Amino acid sequence: MEIVKTIATARALRARYGRVALVPTMGALHAGHMSLLAHARNNAPCVAVSIFVNPTQFGPKEDYNKYPRPIEDDLDKCEEAGVDFIFAPSAEEVYPPGQPDIVVDLPALTTPLEGKHRPGHFKGVCQVVAKLFNIIQPTAACFGQKDFQQLRVISAMVDALDMPIDIIPCPTLRDPDGLAMSSRNAYLSADERQRALAISRALMLAYSEFRSGIIQTNRLIATMQRPLLENHLNIDYVAAVDANTLKPVEKVDGPTVLAIAARVNKTRLIDNVTIAPPESLPQRDDDEE
Ligand code: PAF
Repeated sequence: MEIVKTIATARALRARYGRVALVPTMGALHAGHMSLLAHARNNAPCVAVSIFVNPTQFGPKEDYNKYPRPIEDDLDKCEEAGVDFIFAPSAEEVYPPGQPDIVVDLPALTTPLEGKHRPGHFKGVCQVVAKLFNIIQPTAACFGQKDFQQLRVISAMVDALDMPIDIIPCPTLRDPDGLAMSSRNAYLSADERQRALAISRALMLAYSEFRSGIIQTNRLIATMQRPLLENHLNIDYVAAVDANTLKPVEKVDGPTVLAIAARVNKTRLIDNVTIAPPESLPQRDDDEE
Protein backbone atom coordinates (compact mmCIF):
# COMPACT_ATOMS: atom_id res chain seq x y z
CA MET A 1 0.00 0.00 0.00
CA GLU A 2 1.43 3.38 -0.97
CA ILE A 3 0.75 6.53 1.00
CA VAL A 4 0.99 9.87 -0.73
CA LYS A 5 0.55 13.36 0.65
CA THR A 6 0.87 15.65 -2.34
CA ILE A 7 -1.41 16.20 -5.31
CA ALA A 8 1.48 15.65 -7.73
CA THR A 9 2.41 12.24 -6.26
CA ALA A 10 -1.25 11.20 -6.09
CA ARG A 11 -1.68 11.99 -9.78
CA ALA A 12 1.52 10.10 -10.71
CA LEU A 13 0.41 7.06 -8.71
CA ARG A 14 -3.13 7.11 -10.08
CA ALA A 15 -1.73 7.14 -13.63
CA ARG A 16 -0.40 3.60 -13.06
CA TYR A 17 -3.90 2.17 -12.80
CA GLY A 18 -6.90 1.77 -15.08
CA ARG A 19 -10.18 1.70 -13.16
CA VAL A 20 -9.93 3.11 -9.65
CA ALA A 21 -12.64 3.13 -6.96
CA LEU A 22 -12.20 5.92 -4.42
CA VAL A 23 -13.46 5.89 -0.85
CA PRO A 24 -13.28 9.48 0.40
CA THR A 25 -13.02 9.58 4.22
CA MET A 26 -12.12 11.86 7.08
CA GLY A 27 -10.32 8.96 8.80
CA ALA A 28 -11.28 7.49 12.20
CA LEU A 29 -12.17 4.42 10.19
CA HIS A 30 -14.67 1.89 11.57
CA ALA A 31 -16.48 -1.18 10.25
CA GLY A 32 -18.78 1.07 8.20
CA HIS A 33 -15.77 2.33 6.23
CA MET A 34 -14.49 -1.23 5.84
CA SER A 35 -17.76 -2.08 4.17
CA LEU A 36 -17.27 0.90 1.78
CA LEU A 37 -13.85 -0.58 0.94
CA ALA A 38 -15.45 -3.93 0.12
CA HIS A 39 -17.93 -2.19 -2.21
CA ALA A 40 -15.03 -0.30 -3.80
CA ARG A 41 -13.17 -3.57 -4.39
CA ASN A 42 -16.24 -4.94 -6.22
CA ASN A 43 -16.19 -1.93 -8.50
CA ALA A 44 -12.58 -1.61 -9.56
CA PRO A 45 -9.30 -3.53 -9.42
CA CYS A 46 -7.63 -0.58 -7.64
CA VAL A 47 -8.99 0.86 -4.38
CA ALA A 48 -7.86 4.32 -3.27
CA VAL A 49 -8.76 5.93 0.05
CA SER A 50 -8.48 9.61 0.87
CA ILE A 51 -8.00 10.54 4.51
CA PHE A 52 -8.57 14.24 5.02
CA VAL A 53 -10.46 16.07 7.75
CA ASN A 54 -11.83 18.81 5.54
CA PRO A 55 -11.91 22.14 7.39
CA THR A 56 -14.33 23.79 4.95
CA GLN A 57 -17.26 21.52 5.82
CA PHE A 58 -17.18 22.29 9.56
CA GLY A 59 -19.04 25.26 10.99
CA PRO A 60 -17.22 27.63 13.36
CA LYS A 61 -18.80 25.99 16.42
CA GLU A 62 -18.38 22.41 15.18
CA ASP A 63 -15.84 19.74 16.13
CA TYR A 64 -13.07 20.31 13.51
CA ASN A 65 -10.31 20.57 16.12
CA LYS A 66 -11.46 17.66 18.23
CA TYR A 67 -12.42 15.38 15.31
CA PRO A 68 -10.55 12.07 15.93
CA ARG A 69 -7.37 11.61 13.82
CA PRO A 70 -6.00 8.10 14.62
CA ILE A 71 -3.89 8.04 11.45
CA GLU A 72 -1.64 5.04 12.31
CA ASP A 73 -4.65 2.92 13.18
CA ASP A 74 -6.41 4.04 9.97
CA LEU A 75 -3.39 3.08 7.86
CA ASP A 76 -3.23 -0.37 9.51
CA LYS A 77 -6.91 -0.95 8.79
CA CYS A 78 -6.49 0.08 5.14
CA GLU A 79 -3.42 -2.13 4.76
CA GLU A 80 -5.33 -5.10 6.20
CA ALA A 81 -8.25 -4.40 3.85
CA GLY A 82 -5.91 -4.52 0.84
CA VAL A 83 -6.21 -0.84 -0.13
CA ASP A 84 -3.86 0.02 -2.99
CA PHE A 85 -3.14 3.63 -2.17
CA ILE A 86 -3.89 6.33 0.34
CA PHE A 87 -4.04 10.04 -0.34
CA ALA A 88 -3.59 11.86 2.98
CA PRO A 89 -2.85 15.50 2.21
CA SER A 90 -2.41 18.42 4.60
CA ALA A 91 -4.94 21.26 4.65
CA GLU A 92 -2.34 23.53 2.96
CA GLU A 93 -1.91 21.03 0.12
CA VAL A 94 -5.65 20.96 -0.59
CA TYR A 95 -6.25 24.66 0.08
CA PRO A 96 -3.00 26.50 -0.73
CA PRO A 97 -2.98 29.91 0.96
CA GLY A 98 -3.98 32.58 -1.53
CA GLN A 99 -5.94 30.23 -3.81
CA PRO A 100 -9.33 31.83 -4.49
CA ASP A 101 -12.23 30.13 -2.76
CA ILE A 102 -14.48 28.12 -5.06
CA VAL A 103 -18.09 27.24 -4.44
CA VAL A 104 -19.97 24.31 -5.93
CA ASP A 105 -23.52 24.38 -4.69
CA LEU A 106 -26.85 22.80 -5.51
CA PRO A 107 -29.13 24.88 -3.28
CA ALA A 108 -32.30 22.86 -3.95
CA LEU A 109 -30.63 19.84 -2.37
CA THR A 110 -28.26 21.48 0.11
CA THR A 111 -30.64 23.93 1.83
CA PRO A 112 -33.06 21.55 3.61
CA LEU A 113 -32.34 19.15 6.50
CA GLU A 114 -28.60 19.22 7.30
CA GLY A 115 -28.25 22.44 5.31
CA LYS A 116 -30.60 24.26 7.69
CA HIS A 117 -28.66 23.20 10.76
CA ARG A 118 -25.16 23.23 9.29
CA PRO A 119 -25.07 26.25 6.95
CA GLY A 120 -22.23 25.97 4.45
CA HIS A 121 -21.60 22.30 5.24
CA PHE A 122 -22.41 20.98 1.77
CA LYS A 123 -20.49 23.77 0.04
CA GLY A 124 -17.44 22.42 1.88
CA VAL A 125 -18.32 18.81 1.08
CA CYS A 126 -18.83 19.54 -2.64
CA GLN A 127 -15.67 21.65 -2.76
CA VAL A 128 -13.47 18.92 -1.32
CA VAL A 129 -15.14 16.01 -3.13
CA ALA A 130 -14.88 17.84 -6.48
CA LYS A 131 -11.18 18.46 -5.76
CA LEU A 132 -10.61 14.82 -4.75
CA PHE A 133 -12.38 13.65 -7.90
CA ASN A 134 -10.19 15.93 -10.03
CA ILE A 135 -7.01 14.79 -8.30
CA ILE A 136 -7.65 11.03 -8.20
CA GLN A 137 -9.94 10.81 -11.25
CA PRO A 138 -11.66 7.68 -9.96
CA THR A 139 -14.00 5.71 -12.18
CA ALA A 140 -16.22 4.97 -9.16
CA ALA A 141 -16.59 6.42 -5.66
CA CYS A 142 -18.37 4.91 -2.65
CA PHE A 143 -20.51 6.82 -0.15
CA GLY A 144 -22.55 5.56 2.79
CA GLN A 145 -26.33 5.85 2.89
CA LYS A 146 -26.14 7.02 6.52
CA ASP A 147 -25.26 10.43 5.07
CA PHE A 148 -28.11 10.13 2.57
CA GLN A 149 -28.28 13.87 1.83
CA GLN A 150 -24.52 13.94 1.13
CA LEU A 151 -24.95 10.95 -1.18
CA ARG A 152 -27.83 12.66 -3.00
CA VAL A 153 -25.92 15.95 -3.30
CA ILE A 154 -22.77 14.28 -4.64
CA SER A 155 -24.73 12.15 -7.14
CA ALA A 156 -26.43 15.34 -8.38
CA MET A 157 -23.09 17.22 -8.54
CA VAL A 158 -21.53 14.44 -10.62
CA ASP A 159 -24.54 14.48 -12.97
CA ALA A 160 -24.67 18.26 -13.23
CA LEU A 161 -20.93 18.62 -13.89
CA ASP A 162 -20.79 15.57 -16.22
CA MET A 163 -18.11 13.86 -14.16
CA PRO A 164 -17.54 10.33 -15.52
CA ILE A 165 -17.73 8.68 -12.10
CA ASP A 166 -20.13 5.99 -10.87
CA ILE A 167 -21.40 6.93 -7.42
CA ILE A 168 -21.94 3.72 -5.45
CA PRO A 169 -24.43 3.96 -2.55
CA CYS A 170 -23.46 1.66 0.33
CA PRO A 171 -25.89 0.50 3.06
CA THR A 172 -25.57 1.82 6.62
CA LEU A 173 -23.76 -0.52 8.98
CA ARG A 174 -25.17 -0.82 12.50
CA ASP A 175 -23.81 -2.09 15.78
CA PRO A 176 -25.73 -5.12 17.10
CA ASP A 177 -27.84 -2.77 19.30
CA GLY A 178 -28.94 -0.82 16.20
CA LEU A 179 -26.77 2.32 16.52
CA ALA A 180 -25.63 3.43 13.07
CA MET A 181 -21.83 3.33 12.88
CA SER A 182 -20.23 6.77 12.90
CA SER A 183 -16.83 8.17 13.83
CA ARG A 184 -18.69 10.54 16.18
CA ASN A 185 -20.00 7.58 18.28
CA ALA A 186 -16.54 7.68 19.90
CA TYR A 187 -17.62 10.87 21.72
CA LEU A 188 -20.50 9.09 23.54
CA SER A 189 -20.27 8.05 27.20
CA ALA A 190 -21.94 4.71 28.10
CA ASP A 191 -25.07 6.54 29.26
CA GLU A 192 -25.20 8.78 26.18
CA ARG A 193 -24.78 5.78 23.93
CA GLN A 194 -27.75 4.10 25.61
CA ARG A 195 -29.86 7.21 25.00
CA ALA A 196 -28.60 7.49 21.41
CA LEU A 197 -30.23 4.13 20.67
CA ALA A 198 -33.55 6.01 20.66
CA ILE A 199 -32.63 7.25 17.16
CA SER A 200 -32.48 3.86 15.44
CA ARG A 201 -35.42 2.67 17.57
CA ALA A 202 -37.49 5.65 16.37
CA LEU A 203 -36.72 4.78 12.75
CA MET A 204 -37.56 1.11 13.27
CA LEU A 205 -40.89 1.97 14.96
CA ALA A 206 -41.87 4.22 12.06
CA TYR A 207 -40.75 1.57 9.60
CA SER A 208 -42.99 -1.05 11.28
CA GLU A 209 -45.88 1.40 11.35
CA PHE A 210 -45.44 2.00 7.63
CA ARG A 211 -45.33 -1.78 7.05
CA SER A 212 -48.62 -2.06 8.94
CA GLY A 213 -50.24 0.30 6.43
CA ILE A 214 -49.73 3.86 7.76
CA ILE A 215 -48.62 6.12 4.93
CA GLN A 216 -49.40 9.56 6.44
CA THR A 217 -46.05 11.05 7.27
CA ASN A 218 -47.38 13.23 10.14
CA ARG A 219 -48.15 9.96 11.96
CA LEU A 220 -44.76 8.46 11.16
CA ILE A 221 -43.02 11.65 12.31
CA ALA A 222 -44.96 11.67 15.61
CA THR A 223 -43.96 8.03 16.15
CA MET A 224 -40.29 8.92 15.63
CA GLN A 225 -40.39 11.96 17.91
CA ARG A 226 -41.68 10.01 20.92
CA PRO A 227 -38.60 7.89 21.82
CA LEU A 228 -36.31 10.85 21.10
CA LEU A 229 -38.16 13.07 23.54
CA GLU A 230 -38.47 10.30 26.14
CA ASN A 231 -34.68 9.96 26.09
CA HIS A 232 -34.13 13.73 26.31
CA LEU A 233 -32.44 14.05 22.94
CA ASN A 234 -32.40 17.52 21.37
CA ILE A 235 -34.05 17.15 18.00
CA ASP A 236 -32.67 19.11 15.04
CA TYR A 237 -35.14 17.50 12.67
CA VAL A 238 -37.37 14.49 12.21
CA ALA A 239 -38.45 14.44 8.60
CA ALA A 240 -40.06 12.42 5.82
CA VAL A 241 -38.77 13.55 2.43
CA ASP A 242 -38.88 12.47 -1.18
CA ALA A 243 -35.70 10.41 -1.71
CA ASN A 244 -34.91 12.28 -4.92
CA THR A 245 -35.94 15.91 -4.37
CA LEU A 246 -35.51 15.91 -0.55
CA LYS A 247 -38.79 17.85 -0.31
CA PRO A 248 -41.17 16.94 2.54
CA VAL A 249 -43.97 14.56 1.59
CA GLU A 250 -47.39 14.14 3.20
CA LYS A 251 -47.89 10.53 2.12
CA VAL A 252 -45.49 7.74 1.32
CA ASP A 253 -46.41 7.14 -2.31
CA GLY A 254 -42.86 6.77 -3.65
CA PRO A 255 -39.35 6.23 -2.26
CA THR A 256 -39.27 8.29 0.94
CA VAL A 257 -36.48 8.88 3.44
CA LEU A 258 -37.33 9.04 7.13
CA ALA A 259 -34.48 11.09 8.58
CA ILE A 260 -33.43 12.12 12.06
CA ALA A 261 -30.76 14.49 13.35
CA ALA A 262 -30.55 14.78 17.12
CA ARG A 263 -28.04 15.72 19.76
CA VAL A 264 -27.19 13.64 22.80
CA ASN A 265 -25.64 16.31 24.98
CA LYS A 266 -22.92 17.72 22.69
CA THR A 267 -22.79 14.85 20.19
CA ARG A 268 -24.86 15.34 17.06
CA LEU A 269 -25.97 12.13 15.35
CA ILE A 270 -27.87 11.46 12.14
CA ASP A 271 -29.59 8.36 10.83
CA ASN A 272 -32.24 7.47 8.27
CA VAL A 273 -34.17 4.69 6.62
CA THR A 274 -35.72 4.59 3.16
CA ILE A 275 -39.27 3.29 2.78
CA ALA A 276 -41.32 2.82 -0.36
CA PRO A 277 -44.65 1.32 -1.36
CA PRO A 278 -43.97 -2.03 -3.05
CA GLU A 279 -45.35 -0.78 -6.38
CA SER A 280 -42.72 1.99 -6.51
CA LEU A 281 -39.80 -0.43 -6.17
CA PRO A 282 -38.03 -1.68 -9.32
CA GLN A 283 -39.40 -5.10 -10.35
CA ARG A 284 -37.00 -8.01 -9.84
CA ASP A 285 -36.81 -10.60 -12.63
CA ASP A 286 -38.32 -13.32 -10.43
CA ASP A 287 -41.29 -10.97 -9.59
CA GLU A 288 -42.18 -10.83 -13.26
CA GLU A 289 -42.65 -14.57 -13.77
O1 PAF B 1 -18.52 11.64 4.66
C1 PAF B 1 -17.38 12.09 4.91
O2 PAF B 1 -16.59 11.48 5.60
C2 PAF B 1 -16.98 13.45 4.32
O3 PAF B 1 -18.07 14.31 4.25
C3 PAF B 1 -16.28 13.33 2.97
C4 PAF B 1 -17.21 12.76 1.90
C5 PAF B 1 -15.05 12.45 3.08
C6 PAF B 1 -15.84 14.72 2.47
O4 PAF B 1 -14.94 15.31 3.36
